Amino acid sequence: MTSYAYDLREPLLRAEHVGAERDGVVILRDVDLEIRNIVRRDVAGQGQVVGILGPSGLGKTTLLRILAGLDRPTHGRVLITEQQHPVRPGMAGVVFQSYPLFEHRRVLDNLLVAARSAGLSRAAANTRAHALLERFGLTSHAAAWPAQLSGGQRQRVAILQQLLCGHTYLMMDEPFSGLDPGNKARACDLITEVARMDERTTIVLVTHDIPEAIKVSDTLWLMGREHSAAGTTLPGARIIDTYDLIARELAWRPGIERTPPFTALVHELEDRFATL
Ligand SMILES: Nc1ncnc2c1ncn2[C@@H]1O[C@H](COP(=O)(O)OP(=O)(O)OP(=O)(O)O)[C@@H](O)[C@H]1O
Ligand SMILES: [Mg+2]
Repeated sequence: MTSYAYDLREPLLRAEHVGAERDGVVILRDVDLEIRNIVRRDVAGQGQVVGILGPSGLGKTTLLRILAGLDRPTHGRVLITEQQHPVRPGMAGVVFQSYPLFEHRRVLDNLLVAARSAGLSRAAANTRAHALLERFGLTSHAAAWPAQLSGGQRQRVAILQQLLCGHTYLMMDEPFSGLDPGNKARACDLITEVARMDERTTIVLVTHDIPEAIKVSDTLWLMGREHSAAGTTLPGARIIDTYDLIARELAWRPGIERTPPFTALVHELEDRFATL
């Protein structure tokens, strides 16, 4: 039996009244969110995965870039780390949708550059890079050029690269898009495993893939647009709902995707998507 006992500790990431306008168009309006440190009572080393779910074109990438400190919001602010510092570029690792890698460096070299940038010695970087390649089934591709990798392999290298940079916060833009079912499942396993590597690991991912988002997340936020009393759509997307997957016992254990509550939530969210 999975124990769902946990303590809710300090805030790790907060967005306060975040608004974003691009070319005079309101993309995000008054987005408030808070991720707090969840410490399980019976399991050590459990990080956290937060999924932000919303239909295409709504502003998910815009929000992720603001949370990662890569773009500035038009209004509001983002605070990060246990000390709640205003976010700056480099405070979170970001895995972009296109999984950019150094194309002129082999896979191993991509990882070594990342590990060295985090201050590891040459020997320590080598050991850690090889250990991660082994753990995530990429050892036979260590000498490959990025152009020789499949989409799924490339994604895994991009995630490992960010891990080796020593980031506690990992933000991922559409980590399941463009992947076949097998690679989607592998990406879910990788995200779950990365979240379990360290208690402080906090993964924020934005996606429109409903089943995968439920499968990997501990908390799900739904992005959408609100309507006025008169029925008109208000400009700008907000977080319009929170789904606590721990409370629903849809987190922290393998095989949840084969349970009736999982299927019920997929259908519930599909129905909500249709109204957004
Ligand atoms: N720099 C920009 N200048 C002007 N408009 C922008 C800019 N960036 C984003 N937008 C607009 O903001 C809206 C939200 O874009 P965003 O990329 O954040 O959506 P998304 O939810 O990530 O979409 P997708 O699911 O397709 O990735 C879109 O209408 C887009 O055209
Ligand atoms: Mg996007």
